[in-house]
Amino acid sequence: MTLLAPVPGETVLELAAGPGDTGFLAAAVLGSAGLLLSSDVAPEMVDAARRRADELGVENVEFRVEDASAIDLPDDAVDGVICRFGIMLVPDPERALSEIARVLRPQGRAVLAVWASSDANDWMTAAGRSAVELGFIEPPDPRAPGPFRLADPDELRQLVIGAGFRVETLEDVGVLWRVPSLDQWWATTRDLSQMLTTLVERLATEDVKALRDGAERRLAKYVAADESLEVPGLARALLAVRAPS
Ligand SMILES: C[S@@+](CC[C@H](N)C(=O)[O-])C[C@H]1O[C@@H](n2cnc3c(N)ncnc32)[C@H](O)[C@@H]1O
Repeated sequence: MTLLAPVPGETVLELAAGPGDTGFLAAAVLGSAGLLLSSDVAPEMVDAARRRADELGVENVEFRVEDASAIDLPDDAVDGVICRFGIMLVPDPERALSEIARVLRPQGRAVLAVWASSDANDWMTAAGRSAVELGFIEPPDPRAPGPFRLADPDELRQLVIGAGFRVETLEDVGVLWRVPSLDQWWATTRDLSQMLTTLVERLATEDVKALRDGAERRLAKYVAADESLEVPGLARALLAVRAPS
């Protein structure tokens, strides 16, 4: 939000908003004269964001089902775009970035967050690495949509410039995942990973145990004496400004 620096009265579009919390931080600054367009490709996520806004009392917001690759807005429609941990999941990120440039007014700002390398994000990769090691899945294709698809900062920068932006900031942002136990890590990771949910459903009980043991060995170095975990991760934040047309 600091990078976007929203101004009261502006219109900001959040893409791939999930439950919407990032955009709601902007909405608080935009005020009653401004507007947040909170969107996601999944109608269920848009419903979740709508419920969350009700809980938080956010009123200057409209909800939309939007695919980041084909945004249903006219040209020059918004002052800012936020997309946190979404752009790398779109099959054609180049097209999505062109769409973001199209709906932004000239000099409009886009703030994107992506994950840095898989090596710097053990929280997310421990289960997948264990599954690959045990031969339960193939190694992921680094070019396929996924959390680490845009982990190369040079590639990200070039894609953004190619879509008609000037890159103002591209910086690493450390994150810290904290949970009370490995059980909680497993439950949360299963909830968040479609791959893991599907895999666990099809594996025999002893294979699930082997998978989990392998993952937990990778995380053992982060477990404290009270069994809680603090796992460092690395994200990357980018601020881009749409070049004048
Ligand atoms: C990892 S979640 C991030 C949610 C939220 N931005 C956050 O940071 O908590 C990724 C979201 O991207 C959405 N998504 C995936 N592909 C998309 C697309 N093509 N267009 C828009 N949203 C998409 C998913 O439905 C999901 O809600």
